[in-house]
Amino acid sequence: MLSAKRILLIIGGGIAAYKTLDLIRRLRERGASVTPVLTRAGAEFVTPLAVSALAGHRVFSDLFDLTDEAEMGHIQLSRSADLIVVAPATADLMAKMATGRADDLASTVLLATDTPVLIAPAMNVRMWQHAATQRNIATLKGDGITFAGPNAGDMACGEHGPGRMAEVPEILDAIEHALGDGPLKGQRVLVTSGPTHEPIDPVRYIANRSSGAQGTEIARALAALGAHVVFVTGPATVPPPDGVTVIRVETAREMLDAVEATLPVDAAICAAAVADWRVSSASDHKIKKTKGGLPVLAFAENPDILATLSQKTTGRPRLVVGFAAETDDVITNATAKRARKGCDWIVANDVSPATGIMGGTENAVTLITADGAEAWPRMGKDQVAVQLAARIATALS
Ligand code: CTP
Repeated sequence: MLSAKRILLIIGGGIAAYKTLDLIRRLRERGASVTPVLTRAGAEFVTPLAVSALAGHRVFSDLFDLTDEAEMGHIQLSRSADLIVVAPATADLMAKMATGRADDLASTVLLATDTPVLIAPAMNVRMWQHAATQRNIATLKGDGITFAGPNAGDMACGEHGPGRMAEVPEILDAIEHALGDGPLKGQRVLVTSGPTHEPIDPVRYIANRSSGAQGTEIARALAALGAHVVFVTGPATVPPPDGVTVIRVETAREMLDAVEATLPVDAAICAAAVADWRVSSASDHKIKKTKGGLPVLAFAENPDILATLSQKTTGRPRLVVGFAAETDDVITNATAKRARKGCDWIVANDVSPATGIMGGTENAVTLITADGAEAWPRMGKDQVAVQLAARIATALS
């Protein structure tokens, strides 16, 4: 499964480093080659000799080792792998990654690389839960770093909770997943998701009801097929998936700016529930209740992101997919919407309250293409996403 895959394995300083020795063995059993980088703290837990004996490769540890620089500079080291794995990834190493520091070989390699990175965090539960680490996690996920674990459980320090490094089989699964040569490998796909919030004043806004669940599942399914997914999301209630580049926005206009900045892409999937209007005269100050008067809000139309992408004369994605959430005449309205916006496909669904689809876990969609309407059976939103991603892969191949 991992034959001929090149793993650059960075071993940080934590007691979980002993599990990394087993990880090296299992990777080699599966045919991968392992180039180890041992941090100074990591060497307090496992010896360079044990690591090199298991890896069958010399251990790199010092940024200023002249022999290393002559034989293989840190830039080359950072790029000569199919995947960089950090296990254990300590709180300190994650903080360095999140802030872009490069003060030792491991952090320099991580800053210089253009290779996908997967980390297996391991730390005390309080350190994991600390606001600073949580900020760093969000930053790293936004940078497209993939996480394996951590798990919850008893820790070497005697405490209990999240922070235990994932078990070796789980890390192996994550590595195989990250290296997957899916049908969308090399394709860049944009997914918009979630609602937009349009401010009325600093404390109030208008919005659409959207959890972001369907868009999140689509992004996850596309990434699982090997696509590089850029996920532009409004303030959704479900967290974004791992392994995608996350760009967070609030308003429709910010979403359009983020989408334009992401181009070119091979495909664009517009799953966001964008507010059609914004308050044209949003106030910088909180609007106060005044006796005998109600505020009058003037509206302006928001840019239509799906139509903008679909109607581009240069740099149009090869495939543009929109959604139609309708309550009446679903197929007729959605077919007209496809023509009006100029997109290739419309995924139409009936969001009447009785269907329980809005905010629920299931969806019953009809795919509308140039060839007509194709009704899919009701299924989980994750399954809709998997099927749609497979169709997208076929269309782009
Ligand atoms: N969409 C968009 N930008 C907008 C509005 C909608 O990109 N400003 C996209 C949505 O992401 C979705 C599709 O367009 O893919 C359907 O949007 P919808 O709001 O249903 O379309 P409308 O043009 O508003 O049609 P109607 O009001 O008639 O339902």
